[in-house]
Amino acid sequence: MSDATEIRKGLVGVVADRTAVSKVNVETNSLLYRGYPVQELAAMRSFEDVVYLLWNGDLPSAEERDRALALERSHRELGDRLMGVIERLPDETHPMDVVRTAVSVIGGEDPTAWSDDPDEIRQKALVLIAKVPAVVAYIQRHRRGLPMVPPRDDLGYSANFLWMTFGEEPDEVVRRAFDVSMTLYAEHSFNASTFTARVVTSTLSDYYSAIVAAIGALKGPLHGGANEAVMRTFDDIGTASNVGGWLDDALARKRKVMGFGHRVYKRGDSRVPTMKAALDTLIAHYDRADMAALYDTLEAEFVRRKGIYPNLDYPSGPAYHLMGFDTELFTPLFVASRIAGWTAHIQEQLADNALIRPLSVYDGVAERHLDGYVENAASRAAATRQEEMAG
Ligand code: COA
Repeated sequence: MSDATEIRKGLVGVVADRTAVSKVNVETNSLLYRGYPVQELAAMRSFEDVVYLLWNGDLPSAEERDRALALERSHRELGDRLMGVIERLPDETHPMDVVRTAVSVIGGEDPTAWSDDPDEIRQKALVLIAKVPAVVAYIQRHRRGLPMVPPRDDLGYSANFLWMTFGEEPDEVVRRAFDVSMTLYAEHSFNASTFTARVVTSTLSDYYSAIVAAIGALKGPLHGGANEAVMRTFDDIGTASNVGGWLDDALARKRKVMGFGHRVYKRGDSRVPTMKAALDTLIAHYDRADMAALYDTLEAEFVRRKGIYPNLDYPSGPAYHLMGFDTELFTPLFVASRIAGWTAHIQEQLADNALIRPLSVYDGVAERHLDGYVENAASRAAATRQEEMAG
């Protein structure tokens, strides 16, 4: 490889593979899940239907839906061992680390964890779709010194999630906004965590290892951790009247303002209008005009000064705050949803696998040798054999 080899730092612009799961179209500012615009799915279908669509390529029939819903509802209990592990983790463990650990425990309890059979992977994924919300709900309650709320199998995914978290049936406005956020977070082509899941899968490692690795990638503030970081920014700024001064300082220090910018979208994130509409319903429901003023002022000022637009984490952070979740729980909520997309990509990777292993240009110190090393006949022969095999 010559020194002139082009290096695409951060793999910017590199097309790594094909996918039939979703299409991000920057020109039309649209996102399609298996061909359907995500806005239409968010408006007309439940998150459960979206999960089915992503895993199976098509929306479910009434019968398929009933079967999938019954299965999901049958796996919502955490079980004593998993609850015990969660309780024994240090109090200061970040909820993302708790969720990551919980997925490892669920994998450890699965005797067929190594299976790469597509049906079995769907089954494992369904267990995670059912149990991860229960884990997140339990973390939230545990942080507040509250006991676990048992799941309700008469409630859909989002209503049950909110029920298990807050111990009361959610208002329809809140349930809708939450369900919309789950649909919007479910899938987004080759983002960092999905690519991580595909890299791990490409080594023929197991399903749970791919999900655990993806959770690790999602945690970072440049990726999923941004929704948590957005709320910290809001807390830091306080009120709309402080936005100007806060931005002066942040930009002078060259700080990234979380919730703005995107590797792919450069003229706005296709998911933002739908989530912003959901946030507006929450703002009206909770009578929080102050939050709307802060949101709008920061967006307008940042776009005016930098020409960089909000991404999905910008409206979803305040939305989760208004619903009553602790800030540290925001990225675990993203996990609960994105398991859907990760699983679809893991299945796709397995169906046509090639080990993902890019190259690098070495720019470290030139070859050097240890004092006193004496090359002998055996090591010379081994080196020759290696050269022959490589060449
Ligand atoms: N705040 C301030 N400046 C930003 C910015 C932000 N949120 N996002 C991008 N920029 C600036 C960069 O500082 C850089 O400026 P420079 O050319 O003067 O150095 C320029 O815009 C290009 O940014 P870069 O980080 O190279 O773009 P990218 O495509 O690699 O990064 C993100 C995309 C998402 C990593 C980046 O926009 C970011 O860090 N955003 C904040 C985190 C976030 O919200 N992540 C969630 C993504 S869904």
